[in-house]
Amino acid sequence: MSYKVRDRLKIIGGKKLKGEVKVQTSKNATLPIMSASLLAEGKVYLKDCPDIIDVQNMAKILKKLGANIVRTQDDYLIDSSNIKDVCLDYDLCKTMRSSIFLLGSTLAKFQSICLTMPGGCKIGKRPIDIHIEAFRRLNVKVTQLDDFVFFNASKARAGKIRLKLPSVGATENIVQFACKLKGKTIIYNSAREPEVVDLCNFLNKMGAKIYGAGTKKITIIGVEKLQGVEYKPISDRIVLGTLLVATAICGGTIRLIDKNINQNKKLIEILALMGCQINIKNDIITLSRDVPLKSVQKICTGYYPNFPTDLQSMLMVLNCVANGQTRIEEQVFENRFLIVGELKKMGAKIDIVNNHTAIVSGVRQLKAGKLKAYDLRGGASLVLAGLVAKGETIIENVHYIDRGYCHIENMLKSLGADIERI
Ligand code: UD1
Repeated sequence: MSYKVRDRLKIIGGKKLKGEVKVQTSKNATLPIMSASLLAEGKVYLKDCPDIIDVQNMAKILKKLGANIVRTQDDYLIDSSNIKDVCLDYDLCKTMRSSIFLLGSTLAKFQSICLTMPGGCKIGKRPIDIHIEAFRRLNVKVTQLDDFVFFNASKARAGKIRLKLPSVGATENIVQFACKLKGKTIIYNSAREPEVVDLCNFLNKMGAKIYGAGTKKITIIGVEKLQGVEYKPISDRIVLGTLLVATAICGGTIRLIDKNINQNKKLIEILALMGCQINIKNDIITLSRDVPLKSVQKICTGYYPNFPTDLQSMLMVLNCVANGQTRIEEQVFENRFLIVGELKKMGAKIDIVNNHTAIVSGVRQLKAGKLKAYDLRGGASLVLAGLVAKGETIIENVHYIDRGYCHIENMLKSLGADIERI
C-alpha cells in the first residue's frame, strides 16, 4: 500500500473499541535486521515485514547500494552478494534516523563508509557520539567534517567497550560490526531491548557467535562467514501498547494474540492501576475498560525493562482524560513533549515543568480539533486523543505516523473506531 505526504486523518470521537487485531511486526526489530542482511553471503528471506514508510525507505537504501530486493506482499528477499557501491543515499538517510543502523553492517562489509548525520523524529538531539566512541574503541578511525562522518576500519580489532548509556542503536551497530571481526568483542552496559535480542537471534541464525543478548554484557566472537537465512522479526510491542491504550481511552474490549505480551509488563501494570480489567492467558491478552479512569501518580520512562519512552505520549493522552493528576518523567529523550501544544488545543491541562517533566491534570472531556503530528509516536497519540474527543478531529502530517504504523486507520476501524484517511 502506498502513503502520500499530504494524507490526513479524519476521526469522529466517542466510539468504544471492540474486537481482535493482529499486531504488526516490529519496526525497530525489522530495520536493523534488514541492515544486518548485508552481512550474509547468501539470500536472506525476511517474512511479514511491516508495510511502513521506514521499512520501504530502508529497502530503497539497500537497493541503491546494489542489493537485489524482491518484495512479495510483506516478505522481502534480500540478496546483497553483488553490492559494490559503498555510497549510501544521503537524501534517504536524512529522512530516517534508522539509517544509522547501516553503519555496523556497511563498515564490516566495505571497511570504510561515509555517513551524513542521520535524520528522523524531532524528539531530541539524538547525537551519535556513543556510536563513534564505541567504534574508536575497536580501533576504527573516525573523522568528522561538517555534516559528514567518515569511518575507516582497515585497522579495526576486537576489544572491550563500555557504553556511557545503553544506547539501542550503538549496541546494534557494534554487534553487527563485531560479528565478522576477528577475536572477542565485549560490550558492557549494552541495551537490553527485545529488538536488540531479536537482531542477535537473527545474526546467530546466520552463523554469528553472540552471547548475552538481553543482558548488560554482550560478547561477540568474530566468525569468517555468515550465511543467508529465513527469519521473521518479532511483533511490535509499541503497536501492541498503542492498541491497549486506545481501548483504555475509548472503553470497550480488545483481545490480542501475541507471543511477547510480557514485554509490555510495565504498561500493563499501569493500565490495571488506572482501572482497566486485564486478563492474560498464555499468548492472549484481553483488556476491557468500563469504569472511569483513575490517574496514576507518576510515570517514568527508562531503558528496557523500564517503561518505554515510545509509549510515553500515549499515556499522557490517557491521563488527560483520567480522574486526578499525573507526573510524567521522560528520562530517555529531551524533547518528547511535542504533542502538548496540540493537546492543549483540545482542552487538556498539562504543565511542562522542564524538558523532562510534565504534570497532567485530567479533564472530563477533550474537544475535537485540527491537529498536526510532529513525530511518529506523538502523532499516534493524537489519533488516540481524537478517538475520545467530542466531534470531528483532523490530523495533518500523517506521514510521521506512517513511518511506524501500518495504516493505523484500518487497524482502528476494524475495532469499531470512526476514522478515515482523506
Ligand atoms: C531506539 C528506537 C527508538 C527508541 C529508542 C529508545 C529504533 C529504530 N529506534 O532509538 O524508537 O525510542 O531506541 O528506546 O530502534 N544517545 C546519545 N548518543 C548516542 C546515541 C544515543 O547521547 O550516540 C542518547 C539519545 O539521545 C537518547 C538515549 O541515548 O537520549 C537513547 O538513545 P538510543 O537508545 O540510542 O535510541 P535509538 O537507538 O536512536
